[in-house]
Amino acid sequence: SYAICLSGVSLMTATTTEKKKVFVETFGCQMNKSDSEHMLGLLDEIGYEPTPDIKGADLMILNTCAIREGAEDKVYSYLGAWRGYKEARPGSLIAVGGCVAQDAGEAMRKRAPYVDLVFGTHNLHRLPELVMKASSGEPVVEIYQELPEDLPETPVHRLNDISAWVSIIYGCDYNCTYCIVPYVRGREKSRSPQSIFEEVKSLAESGYKEVTLLGQNVTAYGHDLEPKLHLGDLLRQLAVPELEAIKRLRFVTGHPRDLNVEIIDAVRDLPQACEYFHIPIQAGDERTLRRMARGYNVDFYRRKVDEIRSRIPDAAITTDLIVGFPGESEEEFMNTVRLVEEICFDVANTAAYSPRQHTPSANWDGQVPEAEKYERLRYLNTVVGDVSHRLNKRLLGRKVEILVEGRSDRGMNRLMGRTRTNKIVNFEGPDALIGQLVDVEVTAANPWALRGALKVGLTV
Ligand code: SAH
Ligand code: SF4
Ligand code: F3S
Repeated sequence: SYAICLSGVSLMTATTTEKKKVFVETFGCQMNKSDSEHMLGLLDEIGYEPTPDIKGADLMILNTCAIREGAEDKVYSYLGAWRGYKEARPGSLIAVGGCVAQDAGEAMRKRAPYVDLVFGTHNLHRLPELVMKASSGEPVVEIYQELPEDLPETPVHRLNDISAWVSIIYGCDYNCTYCIVPYVRGREKSRSPQSIFEEVKSLAESGYKEVTLLGQNVTAYGHDLEPKLHLGDLLRQLAVPELEAIKRLRFVTGHPRDLNVEIIDAVRDLPQACEYFHIPIQAGDERTLRRMARGYNVDFYRRKVDEIRSRIPDAAITTDLIVGFPGESEEEFMNTVRLVEEICFDVANTAAYSPRQHTPSANWDGQVPEAEKYERLRYLNTVVGDVSHRLNKRLLGRKVEILVEGRSDRGMNRLMGRTRTNKIVNFEGPDALIGQLVDVEVTAANPWALRGALKVGLTV
């Protein structure tokens, strides 16, 4: 082991002088963003450091999303441009990972033969080896069909030093008839609570203030563990004095069916757990929900919202909605619009239905014409915006606690932070506040963000 150690040292000194540069572009959900940080961590071990400058990169990685056709098309248009960078910098490599790569595999190199490496969502940990192989000049395509049983812990190079993502469950066991995620992310697999605890502990020790627990279906956490566990238990295990440096715990994204009272009670009881519930409903129409195979009806969802609001009156509830699902009538679409007004979502992410390969609904009759889908989307967005605006205006004059994340891109002297309910607040203040929890008074509200003023007499 002494010899290994020595060679490790010489490797280190050799690479600190001339580290190779890696540029990563990430599309898609937070899971993908987190995966990108793990790619950087893994590549660090073979002497790559991240660069924001693609033209000076020795390795360009595109971490792709397949959720809608638009996201997939973007992959090939980016790659077209990257080809030029590769030609301008001989010896540089293009790698493609993520959900489109997982699905396309070899086909990706057929469409973009200048790609040097294609890897999937289940073999991230193999990246160093795959990059070294590709560096020797031979194109590499490696896709695993499932996550390996004995998945190793992978190193991580985080791009944010205040708020960190921690994956707790991979994959999705649902089969919503529109969704490609189960196909590209595989079956649910929960991480052990011990390894999650260790990761959060190291984050606490490195000065992180906020941890977001990640998964496509975090509310299902632990059902596959022995002994069984649920997200409420995990939150309680993480809200302990040993981890008190972590001031905020969040989790995304959940499924209404698995959101039980124990989870809601944990959020209510634990000061660290933020009063923020992202629970995608997808549609407010019974027939559409049934055909989407979501496994609940509108009333079930209403009861979930009541359970949250009766226990935690100030909780934010956010959602995802799809318009123009095959066969959706104008009247059925209006049921979704009415539901938005009824529930009053703090935020609703909306999307026009996009037919995806490997999903049943892609081949159904009654596909809604593009123009009609976009008309519905436009209309729904105005309603969603009005509702968000109304809710945000309720906060005017109120004091909110925010975690300051950095400079705002809104203006020179502004800082940006988030409330516990995940609302963005821009306010004037000194850089010294970055990374701190501060109280601000809400002075203005628009549908997407708040303006605030620092409360005077505050100690930094
Ligand atoms: N696991 C989460 C969502 C994951 S995908 C859940 O069950 O709700 C993120 C969002 O993308 C979904 O909530 C859905 O609104 C949207 N989406 C998924 N497939 C889509 C498709 N084919 N067309 C349009 N939007 C889609
Ligand atoms: Fe997709 Fe449904 Fe799974 Fe969410 S629960 S990732 S929408 S299949
Ligand atoms: Fe996209 Fe894959 Fe996430 S399809 S939304 S990046 S799980």
